[in-house]
Amino acid sequence: MIWRLAAGMARLLPPETAHRAAVATLRHHIGPTPDLPSLPVSVAGLDFANPLGLAAGFDKDASCPDGALQLGFSHVELGTITPRPQPGNPRPRVFRLPADGAVINRYGFNSRGMEMVAAQLARRQANLARPESARPESAQPGIIGINVGANKTSSAPTEDYRIAVARLAAYGDYITLNISSPNTPGLRDLQTVDNLRLLIAAGRAGLADADCERPLFIKLAPDLASADIAAIAATAADEGVAGLIATNTTIARPDGLRSHHADETGGLSGAPLFAMATRVLAEMAGQLPAGGPVLVGAGGVASGWQAYAKILVGASLVQLYTALALEGPELPARVIRELAALLASDGVADIADARGQIPDADKAMQHALRLAQSA
Ligand SMILES: Cc1cc2nc3c(=O)[nH]c(=O)nc-3n(C[C@H](O)[C@H](O)[C@H](O)COP(=O)(O)O)c2cc1C
Repeated sequence: MIWRLAAGMARLLPPETAHRAAVATLRHHIGPTPDLPSLPVSVAGLDFANPLGLAAGFDKDASCPDGALQLGFSHVELGTITPRPQPGNPRPRVFRLPADGAVINRYGFNSRGMEMVAAQLARRQANLARPESARPESAQPGIIGINVGANKTSSAPTEDYRIAVARLAAYGDYITLNISSPNTPGLRDLQTVDNLRLLIAAGRAGLADADCERPLFIKLAPDLASADIAAIAATAADEGVAGLIATNTTIARPDGLRSHHADETGGLSGAPLFAMATRVLAEMAGQLPAGGPVLVGAGGVASGWQAYAKILVGASLVQLYTALALEGPELPARVIRELAALLASDGVADIADARGQIPDADKAMQHALRLAQSA
């Protein structure tokens, strides 16, 4: 109740101010601490307590990873972090579309830069390395993803990925190369096959520089044509990429958006992205060979059935951001509980058994929704 009230009050603030307040609140570990059903998932050599993670963009500078984990997320993807600090686009650059359950943002990788993030995460690691009895209560176990990107003014964007990976890999459990933000000019061109190979090589070189072995994930846009999806799947599998995150925000504006900010420039996220992102995820799953990269489904998840639909088409993990911003800090626990109940209703013992069981996106979404409605 109190958290719903807090979320309601946050909606009265301008979106970027509300975002900052939410980060500050979680930095001080103010938030619910739910007891959750165990839904373990092991992928890319990592053990996740459940499939749900906080997508990149909420905690861009590693300000509050433990506070976010405390809400029930098994993992938090920090970033996008750029090598050099940069301010991002002028404000206003985030817009709520309340009638559509959506957000448009054009932050443009505002980042305090990798050095500041490295220092922050070094302190966290030192804390976690202490014996449990000597740790501050706030240190939370959980998986940390480090999402990196290129500086806007970089003359060698691919090199920026190597530099950021080299500096930050030691502080994360997996690394994401974000090549799908619509708000950095030219970034999404890295999704073409030739550029993708160079990018993956840069990521690997960064890991070698850091003398670290970490699974490499690549985050993709939802605005890819089928031919691009096939080419990316083949290249990622061929190059031994550990995971693909589908998807980032969209530059499309689906018919029927009702909010007056719908024409703002930027990436659209939340409810209107759900079906589109789930279809791209399913198409990606259909193109990947068995034993190839694992899939992380993101885009429009605000409930257990939506997370379940993404798992049914092939996701091993699911991430969300917009629904947390719109609904408040109790949302992740609700999604995890609903997901556990849906798995039980379907008589499925664990996430691995559900994964990929309904490859057709529309059928998977219908099945998951019907199951939730009949509960
Ligand atoms: C305000 C905002 C900022 C975001 N910033 C980033 C970012 O820096 N890096 C990134 O990879 N994704 C970023 N995203 C995309 C999200 O991680 C996610 O992929 C996308 O929003 C779809 O999920 P959702 O509908 O649950 O929000 C951002 C999303 C929002 C709403």
